[in-house]
Amino acid sequence: MNLMNYQAKFPFAQRHLLTLQDWSEDEILQCLALGVKLKAMQKDRRRQICLEGKTLAMIFAKSSTRTRVSFEVGATQLGATALFLSTADIQLGRGEPISDTAQVLSRMVDGIMIRTFKQSDLEALAKYGSIPIINGLTDEFHPCQVLADLMTIYEKKGTFRGLKLAFVGDGNNMAHSLMIGCSKLGIDVAVASPDGYKPNPTYTAWAVANAAGHGSKVTVCSDPLEACAGADVLYTDVWASMGQEDEAAKRREAFGGVYQINAACLSVAKPDAIFLHCLPAHRGEEVTAEVIDGPHSVIFDEAENRLHAQKAVMALLMGDGKAE
Ligand code: CP
Ligand code: NVA
Repeated sequence: MNLMNYQAKFPFAQRHLLTLQDWSEDEILQCLALGVKLKAMQKDRRRQICLEGKTLAMIFAKSSTRTRVSFEVGATQLGATALFLSTADIQLGRGEPISDTAQVLSRMVDGIMIRTFKQSDLEALAKYGSIPIINGLTDEFHPCQVLADLMTIYEKKGTFRGLKLAFVGDGNNMAHSLMIGCSKLGIDVAVASPDGYKPNPTYTAWAVANAAGHGSKVTVCSDPLEACAGADVLYTDVWASMGQEDEAAKRREAFGGVYQINAACLSVAKPDAIFLHCLPAHRGEEVTAEVIDGPHSVIFDEAENRLHAQKAVMALLMGDGKAE
């Protein structure tokens, strides 16, 4: 697998990034290849202006560090402007319909990145608006994070096909998007979650079937060590996601002491396994400090790649993707 050989095709076939289910393997690879190229251009301080005069609206109904900063900085580096719109301030948060918001913003900006609760709100923005919609995290999915994760896996492993990723923890938005994204590129995924917190069976079934078509497999079990056995990539995420704060104590009971990436998980994984976490992390809960701050952890490369992967997403969806 050499992403440097991949040429983005224009116009890009997809208008939105709502979920990676909609993107083909080829489209994901084109996007990752452009991310790798933009990263190299930035390191060489080469000009990357391809969205001059364009504006991205960034709607946030939940907190963010990485997503907000990477989209804002990324837009600036591509010559665009990013507008931070908290739902605490805009009329959407006071009940203005999504359909009206979509049509108004479509008259003024060139793309919308939104972080919110319901996936159906993104679908409504895409339906009523006439500009690209980018999913910056919903309760169901986090596709931008997975593009950065895949870029990091490529940088560290040089390939996708034949690798195994183990996800230990809540069957949440990250678990869904990892199963979907990896199933497109021939990466095996093994998820270990407690009963009652397994990934949504609809997305699991989708990923299992999709993986079969790409020569890999997606499995869900209850035993973290079974999932981590022979893994190339160990992944976890918080036990309680944004919006689940009231369930934190109950979730600590369900996950505590078992659903954690720790030295035991590393001992059954491949010796050169890498550790990924979308962040923010809770040391001592879903991951030990020893692992997240240890030699297998590549979490800050992963976080940096949010910038490069999302610049590729913006360049492909909001521009002609030609970053020279
Ligand atoms: N991983 C991630 O999306 O981080 P933020 O919540 O800080 O944006
Ligand atoms: N599952 C987490 C991911 C944060 C980036 C959440 O939704 O809060």
